[in-house]
Amino acid sequence: MKDKTFLMIPGPTPVPESVMMEIAKHPIGHRSSEFSAVLERVYSNLKYVFQTENDVFVYTSSGTGAMCAALENLVNEGDHVLSLVLGNFGNRWAKIAESRGAVVEKIEVETGEVIDPEVLRKRLAEDTNKEIKIVTLTHSETSTGAANDIKTLCSIIREHGALSVVDGVTSVCAMECKPDEWGIDVLVSGSQKGFMIPPGLAFLTANERAWKVYEECKHPSFYWDWAAYRKSTRANSTPFTPAVNLFVGLDKALEMIKEEGIENMNARHRRHAMALRKAVKAIGLELVVKEDKNASHSITSIFPPEGISVPDIRKTITKDFDIVVANGQNALKDKIFRMGTLGFVCDRDVISAVGALEATLHKLGYKFELGKGVATVIAELGAK
Ligand SMILES: Cc1ncc(COP(=O)(O)O)c(C=O)c1O
Repeated sequence: MKDKTFLMIPGPTPVPESVMMEIAKHPIGHRSSEFSAVLERVYSNLKYVFQTENDVFVYTSSGTGAMCAALENLVNEGDHVLSLVLGNFGNRWAKIAESRGAVVEKIEVETGEVIDPEVLRKRLAEDTNKEIKIVTLTHSETSTGAANDIKTLCSIIREHGALSVVDGVTSVCAMECKPDEWGIDVLVSGSQKGFMIPPGLAFLTANERAWKVYEECKHPSFYWDWAAYRKSTRANSTPFTPAVNLFVGLDKALEMIKEEGIENMNARHRRHAMALRKAVKAIGLELVVKEDKNASHSITSIFPPEGISVPDIRKTITKDFDIVVANGQNALKDKIFRMGTLGFVCDRDVISAVGALEATLHKLGYKFELGKGVATVIAELGAK
């Protein structure tokens, strides 16, 4: 049915009608006092969402832009960067660091696994000359649906003295993430994820330790330059022409996030992800991330039943129910499908998605106890 599409991909995610109404208004001048007032609220509310006292910069770019904004202001040629890789997005950090001439070392895990804190502790303990300058990490690895214990990993990195640079693209607004309290030195995210607005804005916050490393960066980026962004942010401005309509939408979305409260928002994402995991298991499907404690709260990766293809599942659930789920990426393409419960998602959405998945699999010939997934998800979400 026209206009009924529900995005259950890990971004872009659904956007509330009231946010779309703001975005649809005529653009306003980016040097006007009206826009400056929008920026004042946005910058202040972002500190609340990011749970930090430090500035939060907003870039007109996708999430990868903020990842470049992190490393391209910190890395000098020959610097030693340790990348903790759970999948595609962990690898992206490594590629960006390499593009700046860094010597990149990786700790990689099997698909669906997370970094063992003891493995990291051991590697950093071996680095007695303190050669490792930066450790890159992914909080919620969207390509597999696994989520690292960022709090523990960042405390180990802090003990060593390296800088922790964290991808929170699908975790901020969905999973507890406290940079100031947990000692995350740089944290980035993107707008089309938990922030309930379309793609086009990206976020970065950095602490004093990170700024010291920035000061030593020989060739900081021009477009992403932290100093330019700090100056503008503190003046309720932007260095260049920003995506003004998205900022206006973000202003509205942040108001909604504050109204719900970041803790409640995180709890909602946890409930939905855990209920979905349970429901999927109840109908006999296998999850990519085996243990709940290692699972992302924004994205769930699922193996299809034997004999039923991922393209058929995706095609059928979209055609019959207007629900869009994601394919696997790279080597996981057509091997898994991924369901997002990120951003503007309510209990009704999760219950109907499980029903739609059951109907899809039933239609494609999978034999299971019809209704068991729906019964499971209702039992889980009913107990608020
Ligand atoms: C964990 C993670 N990091 C980085 C990115 C890159 O963001 P973008 O596609 O907005 O550049 C994504 C996008 O899905 C992501 O999920």
